[in-house]
Amino acid sequence: MSLRVAVVGSGPAGIYTAEALVKQSADPVEVDVLERLPTPYGLVRYGVAPDHTSIKSIANYLRKVLEQPGIRFLGGVTLGAEVSVDDLLACYDAVVYCTGAMVDRKMGIPGEDLLGSVAATDFVNWYCGHPDVSPDKFELDSPEVAVIGVGNVAVDVVRVLAKTAEDLRATDVPADVLDRLADSQVKAIHMIGRRGPEHAKFTLKELRELGEVANADVCVRPDEAVVLGGDFPRQVKGNIDVLRSWSERVPAGRPRRLDVRFWLRPVEILGTTRVEGLRLERTRLSQDGRVVGTGEFETLPVGMVLRSVGYQSVPLPGVPFSTETMTVPNVAGRVRDREYVAGWLKRGPTGVIGTNKSDAAETVRTLLADAPSGAAGSIDDLLAERGVRPVTYDDWLAIETAEAELARTLDRGERVKLVGLEAMLAACGRTVT
Ligand SMILES: Cc1cc2nc3c(=O)[nH]c(=O)nc-3n(C[C@H](O)[C@H](O)[C@H](O)COP(=O)(O)OP(=O)(O)OC[C@H]3O[C@@H](n4cnc5c(N)ncnc54)[C@H](O)[C@@H]3O)c2cc1C
Ligand SMILES: NC(=O)c1ccc[n+]([C@@H]2O[C@H](COP(=O)([O-])OP(=O)(O)OC[C@H]3O[C@@H](n4cnc5c(N)ncnc54)[C@H](OP(=O)(O)O)[C@@H]3O)[C@@H](O)[C@H]2O)c1
Repeated sequence: MSLRVAVVGSGPAGIYTAEALVKQSADPVEVDVLERLPTPYGLVRYGVAPDHTSIKSIANYLRKVLEQPGIRFLGGVTLGAEVSVDDLLACYDAVVYCTGAMVDRKMGIPGEDLLGSVAATDFVNWYCGHPDVSPDKFELDSPEVAVIGVGNVAVDVVRVLAKTAEDLRATDVPADVLDRLADSQVKAIHMIGRRGPEHAKFTLKELRELGEVANADVCVRPDEAVVLGGDFPRQVKGNIDVLRSWSERVPAGRPRRLDVRFWLRPVEILGTTRVEGLRLERTRLSQDGRVVGTGEFETLPVGMVLRSVGYQSVPLPGVPFSTETMTVPNVAGRVRDREYVAGWLKRGPTGVIGTNKSDAAETVRTLLADAPSGAAGSIDDLLAERGVRPVTYDDWLAIETAEAELARTLDRGERVKLVGLEAMLAACGRTVT
């Protein structure tokens, strides 16, 4: 008898888990990868920036996993809607939760809910064409925008704001989003770090890329580029050197300006119904290394605040969840009898795509050592009884073909994303039920 495993979520963690199951098990394994969307690959499709085409090509590797014998893709099946934990435990010997981290963290300051105060999660979903966000959700009608946070997501968001629509024409950005980007009124982008250059979370390659955007002058204030002490890891030293070199640049009068700021924390987003400004307080580190305010304030006249301060997982119905770590408590991937976890839901929203491979391998080692069993029912019968017809891998290929066709029609790159469940399902001859 084969080991039957349900993997919930088809992002990198889910697909690497499926791959590890097939590779590591001495016995035959059948893996169903359940996904709430009609499309696989999680943040590789709906997170990785559209202009990072070489990173996006990881999808070609993930695709080969889904095409392996013994692995099935079941799209349009949400744990917590079409199926429950009990359903999965009845149909499979083991379940691995890989649902990532889909929502934004809050800053906890006044004004965070004003119109124009936008979570990076939403903004990224918008330019990536995620079906949860309509293409007309954002209008870039403010000349000044603040981006809070100095991690790699903030860098992505800033780069998309700084580039021209023409720069993004050959990418898969949805057509309506590209139109909005072409109409952008943004002239100044302020990227705000609450600590110093030596504490920034962005990586050197990504930072350097910002300095290469032809449409924008990148500015750093010399006093904010100063870093005391010197024994930093190579990456950090590289960041500091790049930022210091930018502080010596003379602006070339390009259409947009990017100000990378440090030692400032947001204290209030100003406005009555919509964002009219951002009040910041200068910071320093306390003796015990905490960020504290100095009592010196400044206000930026921005009409949009993009909060890029990290992603966060959400609890799955019926699955243990720690509201302290915002992850599923586990030991080497084991949650409870026959239940496992991998990826961002397991360890929190940090790490690049490749990090999920070793993470998934650990979970699969634990699972195979446990040799779980208990599958009795059939998921196909259960879904059929409920009138749920999953999106198959072949359906997904039809969506891909339609996206390539759209790109040809619009004379753009390899593909242009279809937006909305209706359009995606229509591409594979289906309708929304
Ligand atoms: C904006 C952004 C850009 C990034 N860019 C890069 C980059 O350029 N390079 C890099 O190496 N790393 C990048 N990363 C990090 C990388 O994307 C993550 O490490 C990785 O995607 C995490 O994998 P995951 O499978 O845990 O989660 P995800 O990729 O989020 O996958 C989770 C999947 O679960 C599905 N799901 C959620 N809930 C349910 C449910 N209830 N039922 C069924 N399915 C469900 C989701 O739809 C999704 O498909 C980026 C991250 C972000 C946020
Ligand atoms: N190209 C790539 O490889 C790529 C692209 C995108 C994402 N990723 C990866 O995906 C993961 C998530 O990235 P991320 O950028 O979302 O998270 P991140 O790396 O954790 O960065 C979050 C940023 O937000 C700041 N922040 C947090 N709370 C704040 C608050 N209340 N006020 C002001 N600032 C606050 C943090 O500052 P502090 O440090 O002071 O807390 C930090 O600068 C990372 O591992 C990243 O490397 C990789």
